[in-house]
Amino acid sequence: MKIGIITGSHRKDSQSAKVGRFLSTQLDAKDGVATWMLDLGRSPLPLWDEDLWNQGPQWSALPELKAALDDCDGFVVIAPEWHGMVPAALKNFFLLWAATGELSHKPALPCAVSAGDGGAYVISELRMSSYKNNRLCWLPEQLIARQVKSICNDDTAENDAALHNTFATRSRYALDLLLAYSEALTAVRDSGLIDHDTFMNGM
Ligand SMILES: Cc1cc2nc3c(=O)[nH]c(=O)nc-3n(C[C@H](O)[C@H](O)[C@H](O)COP(=O)(O)O)c2cc1C
Repeated sequence: MKIGIITGSHRKDSQSAKVGRFLSTQLDAKDGVATWMLDLGRSPLPLWDEDLWNQGPQWSALPELKAALDDCDGFVVIAPEWHGMVPAALKNFFLLWAATGELSHKPALPCAVSAGDGGAYVISELRMSSYKNNRLCWLPEQLIARQVKSICNDDTAENDAALHNTFATRSRYALDLLLAYSEALTAVRDSGLIDHDTFMNGM
């Protein structure tokens, strides 16, 4: 089983990517689970434009990215809270996918990131407006990495032990559920019910 971890910060050395590495390490430790990571801070994508539909040169790397997404059974989507919003790079990412494969009918665990006690806005925004055409299935569980500078650090001396342990315990639980949903939703994708030719866009 392969889980894609998508990090939505524009920053090259983001706290969100740090959280992504922490969650990836937890997943990689499980038998039969591999991870793939896309850090939109280090691998930025062009802003959506019409050339996407006629293979414009700025989109030459897209087939490779599509193949990597097709290969995933589920996702963790990490979004820092910026001005109470999901960063534009992640919203742009969601615009690019609307076919079979990619994100469609695959489970995703949303994980918000905040330097303080924020994060709830981005969870709401992801659940409200990110999945209609790409058909990503948000889990009914979520993670919020609050006080992020005090958790998930490689150097454990930089962690607030109580905050870190709370997040680590919660993330183990949520990731186990993500794996269970990833297994379960393969049956939906294999059912023959999905018809994106007739119903290309969600209502
Ligand atoms: C442009 C910008 C806006 C931000 N707005 C918020 C916010 O609304 N709420 C919040 O909790 N943190 C906010 N932060 C702080 C982030 O929580 C902090 O940068 C954290 O490290 C996550 O971002 P990162 O993954 O890019 O490092 C903001 C940071 C930036 C750069």
